[in-house]
Amino acid sequence: MYQHELHQKINSLVENSHIDFDTGDSFFIRFIANAAAIHALYMELYKEHPHAEAMFDVLLQTIITNYKKRPAVLRQKDEEQLSKGFWFLNNDIVGMSLYVDRSCGNLEELRNKLDYFKKLGVNLLHLMPLFESPAGESDGGYAVSDFRKVDQRFGTLDDLRLLEENMTKEGIYLMTDIVLNHTSHHHKWAKKAKQGETKYQDFFYMYPDRTIPDMLENTMPEIFPESAPGNFTYVEECNKWVMTVFHDYQWDLNYTNPEVFVEMLDNIFFYANLGVDILRIDAPAFIWKQLGTTSQNLPQAHSILQLIKQCVNVASPGMALLGEAIVAPHEIMKYFGTGLATAKECDLAYNATQMALQWDALATGETRVMLAAQHELLQKPYGTSWITYTRCHDDIGLGYTDAIIEQSGFNAYDHRRFLKDYYSGVYPGSPAKGALFGVNPQTQDARISGSLASLCGLEKAMEEKDEAAIKISSKKILLMQALTFFVSGIPMIYYGDEVGYTNDYSYLSDEGKGYDNRWMHRPVINWKKNDNTEVEGTIENEIFSATQRLISLRKKIAAFGDYKNITWLSSHNIHVAGFIREHNDKKLYCVFNFCDKEAFLTWYAFKEHGIKSYNLFDHWNQKQYLIGADNEYLIMQPYDFYIMEAL
Ligand code: GLC
Ligand code: GLC
Repeated sequence: MYQHELHQKINSLVENSHIDFDTGDSFFIRFIANAAAIHALYMELYKEHPHAEAMFDVLLQTIITNYKKRPAVLRQKDEEQLSKGFWFLNNDIVGMSLYVDRSCGNLEELRNKLDYFKKLGVNLLHLMPLFESPAGESDGGYAVSDFRKVDQRFGTLDDLRLLEENMTKEGIYLMTDIVLNHTSHHHKWAKKAKQGETKYQDFFYMYPDRTIPDMLENTMPEIFPESAPGNFTYVEECNKWVMTVFHDYQWDLNYTNPEVFVEMLDNIFFYANLGVDILRIDAPAFIWKQLGTTSQNLPQAHSILQLIKQCVNVASPGMALLGEAIVAPHEIMKYFGTGLATAKECDLAYNATQMALQWDALATGETRVMLAAQHELLQKPYGTSWITYTRCHDDIGLGYTDAIIEQSGFNAYDHRRFLKDYYSGVYPGSPAKGALFGVNPQTQDARISGSLASLCGLEKAMEEKDEAAIKISSKKILLMQALTFFVSGIPMIYYGDEVGYTNDYSYLSDEGKGYDNRWMHRPVINWKKNDNTEVEGTIENEIFSATQRLISLRKKIAAFGDYKNITWLSSHNIHVAGFIREHNDKKLYCVFNFCDKEAFLTWYAFKEHGIKSYNLFDHWNQKQYLIGADNEYLIMQPYDFYIMEAL
């Protein structure tokens, strides 16, 4: 829709900026096309603010200035990515998430290790927070004191630039974080606020006494009830209370202030111009707070994300946005945008529900709850995708609703209790070695820490030198990874899991980490151990080479791209999860046995959605099968999976 004043303003701002446009540069068209949406979203959030108009002009200028700074290679990459449509839906992307220091030492060393990731088949690296963060009060880098200075532990901005150049040459995508919700209390804004500058006190939620904090506390849940109870912290320097939803050293930014929004947008573009391909927006569910609510998942949080998306589409459209919202299934869907904004918010979100339900199935040996959740998850709009994962640097939250659990015939309280007992290893006979994280003494809510290998029983089996148990745990690891790789979305491997790292308990003797047991699953890589990937007969070799095969299988078959092309099979056998992936003429049946016994799957499972041939080829075990009669079965060994193509 043409809006005379707005469009003329943009026209003259762009003209006055003297940008060197290459032929075919679509920046101006994109700007004009998105202008009305940008204006509407901005006004929806800020029209009541006294500086709304003035800050809107700053916002427009921020978009222009950052485009002007955008390196020519990235502008060209933008055009290429745009011409592909939704590039991130492709089956050829496989990621790994890692801490630069804990995996390689620093950015320079990481640059020397790119061959390792390539050998595995990984072509997207999520480098965990890289920017300056005070040691001892860093929350793994998620408490940022300078958004533009690489923390000296990792190297310099130039090291990052050089790494990015090398990654691009090697065809590896880069993903980094923007910690949008809060800053470290050592950030210059926080320091000025402490010194009493009201301009910067307005960058945070600061209160002279406990009146409003107490009112907010009534409805705001606690994120770290054990290590950081409450949502406010007293700041002695200025005698005020500041909102700190996460740790007391992480101050929540106040997005009701348009200046905060524009400053953080500028930081987003700074990352975009470094060549980031996927920007992980940390904790977006928390960015808007309101009295009388949980201050999570509020409509304004979605408006902010949509506004960011529209601006990014103008100045750095090749960069995709990943929303790290770890929330219930019906809430997560909203992060892809709703109504007219469908598929115009986050391009990607974590499929935390699927992740947690895989752990649910592994513990119970049953797939009912996983199946019950799919109806909701399938609502994801075309043009958006998931990050699928088995483990990450955070805890496993059992965030799916009680209703889904109950629909599957379980009592929700008992069921969750069982899962927590199972993975913390207190359930009799449980092979898992994990720990409870974030236990809330009032609600008994808790999440689970522990590495993939330890939760699958490898740590215990190795301690007990039980060869049979080692075999079973490695089968479980692969089953979990396979499901993550073939269910739709970009699989994100967590570093160390490709070689079966078990829990690391050294964090307990580190003062800055001991209070947070998520560090047990944040290993320091021992490259001597990783060298065993080359030595046949080692567990490292077994897991690494199988992971490599899973990746190459995914990359070979276009049907594993995310084109709304997944159909879940009905539950013919309660222990087996199965789905069809279909694309062009190819049809693949992926089936996974979560049970410690043989599972019998009726051949009818392969016919219920129609079948063109009675021959199946299992790409995983390289075996051919003939589909039998409905009263005959495919017999699956414990924790077996098949990736069967209908020939
Ligand atoms: C995200 C991060 C988590 C961090 C939190 C606060 O959830 O993944 O590690 O503690 O944000 O920044
Ligand atoms: C936030 C994050 C979630 C994480 C939790 C603690 O809630 O959104 O991912 O589990 O912090 O780590």
